[in-house]
Amino acid sequence: MKLNVNNAQHDVDADPRTPLLYVLRDDLKLNAAKFGCGLGQCGACTVLVNGEPVFSCVTPVALLAGKEITTLEGLGTAENPAPIQRAFIEAQAAQCGYCIPGMMMRAQALLQKNPHADDAEIRAWLEPNLCRCGTHMRILRAVHRAQEMMNPAQPGDAG
Ligand code: FES
Ligand code: FES
Repeated sequence: MKLNVNNAQHDVDADPRTPLLYVLRDDLKLNAAKFGCGLGQCGACTVLVNGEPVFSCVTPVALLAGKEITTLEGLGTAENPAPIQRAFIEAQAAQCGYCIPGMMMRAQALLQKNPHADDAEIRAWLEPNLCRCGTHMRILRAVHRAQEMMNPAQPGDAG
């Protein structure tokens, strides 16, 4: 089957029931999305499908033909990071870092839909993604910082 990942078509030879996470990591060598629980309960594997965050560990590739899949690698690079990536670096939001790619993808989806989400909306939106290190306050700061970068003229986002 063909998968559209980060604006490129990939021929994938996998059982249709294979979770997207395994195809991303094992076949396409896109390792940003992480295996945490494998049960749709932690968010470490979060990627975007048509702009919506999904748990790639429980999403079979059979459901994804013709859809646009975006991973963290599709947002920016180490040399040219996207605003959400720069914001997480500036806020030093990672401790172990394991949850961070999924956090960034979930936050990115919110900022694309609702660039001016307030603090309560951001907290509620990020709830499905867990951070065992407890860097939640820094993650929140990073998302507010990303809002400032993405909407520089918008007042009231000084969080
Ligand atoms: S690894 Fe997918 S939700 Fe935990
Ligand atoms: S930074 Fe370690 S799990 Fe979030």
